Amino acid sequence: AATGRYEAEVSPAVCDGTIDSDWSGFSGSGFCNGTNAVGAHVQFAVSAPAAGTATLTVRFANGTATARPADVVVNGTTVAAGASFESTGVWTGWTSKTFTVPVAAGANTVRLSPTTAAGLPNVDHVEL
Ligand code: GCU
Repeated sequence: AATGRYEAEVSPAVCDGTIDSDWSGFSGSGFCNGTNAVGAHVQFAVSAPAAGTATLTVRFANGTATARPADVVVNGTTVAAGASFESTGVWTGWTSKTFTVPVAAGANTVRLSPTTAAGLPNVDHVEL
């Protein structure tokens, strides 16, 4: 089970864009609306109890009709290239997807780095 939830709007998370709260259904006080550009990322500082593999859950919404691919980057290494963040139909349509990722014991960074000019979906939080 996940041991922590990390909100995109809570420091030390970094959102290359704006923290918005105009689409309901997010957790915490808002979500990251990344700039619509390649590499306009959201980055989280997460903690893992032990080295090995962990399940990373990303909660997002994509109100466009087109998937928004992004690299999932852990500690500077791309562990899932161009992962698809599919349309959720509407911007209030939050959903979660999971990735199995390698982690170090203790502090880790998790970055979602979009690979197209559309940028990221809106990102609510991650859990690990
Ligand atoms: C709209 C929407 C934003 C979203 C943006 C986008 O402006 O209100 O929440 O981030 O589209 O396409 O990325």
